[in-house]
Amino acid sequence: MKLWSGRFGKDTDALVNELNASISFDQRLYKEDITGSMAHAAMLADRGIISREDTDAIIQGLRGILADAEAGKIAFTADNEDIHMNVEALLTARIGEAGKRLHTARSRNDQVALDFRMYVREQIPVITGEILGLMEVLCRQAGKYQTAVMPGYTHLQRAQPISFAQHLLAYAAMFRRDVTRLEDCAERLNECPLGSGALAGTTYPIDRHQTAKALGFEAPMGNSLDGVSDRDYALELLSALSILMMHLSRFSEEIILWCSWEFKFIELDDAYATGSSIMPQKKNPDVAELVRGKTGRVYGDLMSLLTVMKGLPLAYNKDMQEDKEPVFDAVDTVEMCLPVFAAMLDTMTVHTDNMRAAAGKGFINATDCADYLTKKGMPFRDAYTVVGQLVAACGQKGKTLEELTLEELREVSDLFESDVYDALNLENCMALRGSYGGPAVSETKRQIEEITAFIKAR
Ligand code: ARG
Repeated sequence: MKLWSGRFGKDTDALVNELNASISFDQRLYKEDITGSMAHAAMLADRGIISREDTDAIIQGLRGILADAEAGKIAFTADNEDIHMNVEALLTARIGEAGKRLHTARSRNDQVALDFRMYVREQIPVITGEILGLMEVLCRQAGKYQTAVMPGYTHLQRAQPISFAQHLLAYAAMFRRDVTRLEDCAERLNECPLGSGALAGTTYPIDRHQTAKALGFEAPMGNSLDGVSDRDYALELLSALSILMMHLSRFSEEIILWCSWEFKFIELDDAYATGSSIMPQKKNPDVAELVRGKTGRVYGDLMSLLTVMKGLPLAYNKDMQEDKEPVFDAVDTVEMCLPVFAAMLDTMTVHTDNMRAAAGKGFINATDCADYLTKKGMPFRDAYTVVGQLVAACGQKGKTLEELTLEELREVSDLFESDVYDALNLENCMALRGSYGGPAVSETKRQIEEITAFIKAR
């Protein structure tokens, strides 16, 4: 018998049961559901809505269910549709009459809104903790490679010299924003929907401030319709996770490139790479490829919930039961990817010699050459043209800029003097880029200090 079978004359069709039931996935919320019910029951007694004895029995019963669920001893059933009715039915089976009083002044609509919000609230620190772990690895690796020159790219064409540290710290800066985005989400979601009822509050003298406080919320939500209808917090989480995965995916793409024979900037540890079933020589960056691939499913999770919500009239609609699986999927995916990704970076071997060799080709000191002339008085735009001619000449001669003789250089401008070779030296080109946020060691040090302080403050 369904808890809501009162006005029905027939059993639910079996297929409808299957379609309607959410217990297969929302049983994950048993702890939040039971915690919420305990706070609700305590408030009902405090407000004289049910007796103290009933509340004591309810809380005792819920404790027992929680312990059994934790021990994996409970078989939730689709006959009871969802986690809320499963817990209530179990409670009544265990404690009798008192169990039937728990749902006074409450609806599954505010109950599910509460459970899901608490779930998201609990997952955020888990995820930010993992991001901070990844940032720690990046700081550690960056610390080691502050003078390792590599080509910086635009359009995937070698552009200007940077350090490997600067490249890694760019990702640390992105992950730092991801952490603060998630923290913002956690702060905004921390209002309690419990007591919104089905949609219109209740006539019982409940105390929403009491339950909000007991459950660790800043305040009760101010509007009962919004209380049961709002899924912004889930969308904010999915948005923040999509952006996080986008960062991880860009990073993955670079790791895949760097592992290729064309680059060979890094090699992954054997524990974080995989082989081929046919090609004996292969060592594949599957971790990075999977993270890049799984980014698609997290975007899909976001799009799926945005689409579920877009046409819904107020207040609760059953469509909203579709909110959970995308969020669970995105959370599981992110929580699986982050630690593996961090460990992969922590254990990689960095081939600084190959980075340096790549930096030596592609004229990435051409801007420095133009800057040299500019500092000697030539307008930058003219210097740009002159160096363009030099690069073209180098192409024909098969030389780099620093391999040109002073005579060859002076053919295009007599501002060139022997100190030009210092100006073209790649280590100098990198070291002198000390503008705020640049790749010079003084600036990578500052970045590492700031990011370390950010991590410590959490
Ligand atoms: N299982 C439902 C969900 O996940 C709980 C709320 C159901 N409310 C209702 N009136 N049918 O959304």
